[in-house]
Formats: sequence, C-alpha cells, structure tokens
Amino acid sequence: MSRPLLMSRPPRRGRVLGIALALLAALAPALALAQDPGSIFDPAAPQARSVASFFILVLVLAALVFLIVEGLVVYVLLRFRGRAGDPDPPPNYGNRRIEIIWTTIPVILLAIIFVLMWPVMGAAENAPADAYTIDVVGHQFWWEFRYPQPNAIVANELHIPVGEKIRLQLQSADVIHSFWIPRLNGKMDLIPGQVNEWVLQADAPGEYVGQCAELCGIQHAWMLLRVFAEPRAQFDAWVAQQAQPATAPTNATAQRGAQLFIAQACGNCHAVRGTANPGGVAPDLTHVGSRTTLAAGAITNTPANLQRWLHNPQDIKPGANMPTFKLSDDDVNALATYLEGLK
Ligand code: CUA
Repeated sequence: MSRPLLMSRPPRRGRVLGIALALLAALAPALALAQDPGSIFDPAAPQARSVASFFILVLVLAALVFLIVEGLVVYVLLRFRGRAGDPDPPPNYGNRRIEIIWTTIPVILLAIIFVLMWPVMGAAENAPADAYTIDVVGHQFWWEFRYPQPNAIVANELHIPVGEKIRLQLQSADVIHSFWIPRLNGKMDLIPGQVNEWVLQADAPGEYVGQCAELCGIQHAWMLLRVFAEPRAQFDAWVAQQAQPATAPTNATAQRGAQLFIAQACGNCHAVRGTANPGGVAPDLTHVGSRTTLAAGAITNTPANLQRWLHNPQDIKPGANMPTFKLSDDDVNALATYLEGLK
C-alpha cells in the first residue's frame, strides 16, 4: 500500500503550470530578442498596406459567401425537415438553371478578385528601373545580402535607406525559401535556378523582423532576418563601412583567434574579406561584430553567446550546417575575441 511517489504528485493543474514555466525558462534566451515579425495588419510600407487591404476585402467577400451558403443550408434543413413515416422524396437529377447560377457567381467573384489583385502584385514586385538593387540568396538556414554599389556582403541583417523603393533579386543556393517581412510586403519565394524580384520599402526608420516562410528543413523556424531602415546618409555610411575589408586584430588574444580561424579552416566556409579566408558557403564574417544577432536571429550577438555557439553550434541550432569543432575553452575565447572585434 505504499505509493509515495504517486501520492506526492502535485495536482494536475500544478503539473501543467510547472511544465509551462519550464518551457518558458527554456525559451527565455530567445524571448529576450525582438523576434516577433509583427502583423500584416500593422503595415509599415505602401506594399504591405495594399496587401492588408486586399486581404480584408477577400475576407469580407468570403464571409458573405459563407453566411449566404450556410444560411441557405440551415433554412433548408429547418423548412424541409422530414418526419418519421414520410415517403422518400422523388430522386432529383439536377436543375440546370440553379447549377448555372451557382457556377457563374463564383466565377464572377474570382474574376473581380483577380482584377483587383493585379495592381497589388505589380506594386509588390516591380521597382522603378533606377532603384537601388540588392541580391538576396537563401541558404539552409540563413540569408545572404549582396550590395552591388559599393560591394558589400552581409548575412541575416539587411539595411536599407528609409522611404525608398529597393529592388531585391531573390535566389536560392539550395532549396526553396520564402522572403517575408510581414510589416513591409507579402511573401516571395527564393527558387533554385531562378531570380525573382521583390520590392522593399519602409515608411519610417526602425527595425523590421522577418521570417523564412517556406518549410526548408530542420532549422526553418530559426531562419529569421531583420531589416534596418535608416536615413539615406546613415545608410550610405553603413554600406561604405561594410564594404571595407576586415580590420586587423589589435590584441594578442584576437591575433591568436585570427590564426586559429585559418588553422581550423573556418575560412573555407566563412569569408573574412581582406584575409586569406575565401569562404563563400557560410555567412560572410568580415563585419560580424557589428551585427545584433548570430545564427540567423537564434541568439543575440554577445561575446558569451558567440562562445556558446563556437563550443557547440548544434546545441543552439540542431541541423545547422556548421559542425561542432570540439575546441578548448581557450581557443573558443580567442576565436570569439577575434570575431567580436570584426566591427
Ligand atoms: Cu528557409 Cu524556411
């Protein structure tokens, strides 16, 4: 008769609360970041406003159709309800007039939606011929942004001048991804072997969070991106700075980190422009120290988080392409010091 373990169990509600608290604690590092991509109903660009209005229009039309059809169903159910003992009604082999009506109405509705959608799509994907153009490459599970003039390559954090229509040329290095910043525009796919164009514009300076919107593998959910909209002068200064080669490490720890970076062959995947690290496969780290996040938004960019990442990336993003190198604490510290210094 001794069941102490079972007897000492907290009541069911307490257990649920305990599990919820444990989950929240596990999520705490992520929650500390601005991760909320916002809502399409809180648009911050003309393109997003037209997508939101169009969505509401379609929603209202669909709601009207739903109410009319379901209302008729309920009416017929109540009005023509059979009783026990009633004879079976004669079979009905169709009514041409009714069938033409209920085919024509949806065709007209869809035609109206199509015509109204045309300009929304046009505004979302067509930038003026002289618009500033940025190449976007989707990778499992991060974003590469290539600025042509001047030539800068960055990862996961896109800076744009505020109020201007920017042309994005979207491509993929592996599988299909989808570029989505809910407050700025709709979604556009990045498809291997194809270039899709998309417009990016922000009304006001600020940070806009986005999310890959096409299931692309195990870390799809941590394929975040963020847009920083800045006044033109600030943007020009930022892009000019990002185009510069990496600064040389100044202290002994960072210098040892730079040597380790080459010795561990980090540079075979990660470019550090201005050094013997060609990279090209993984995020460009030339100015990694200037970013706000690491691992495509999975963690904030702090020395402690970078060390955690270098110790075991698979702990933070299981399935990411960066392997675990089993580095010593000393080596991790040197590498983190070097990389955080790449402003
Ligand atoms: Cu990339 Cu989902």
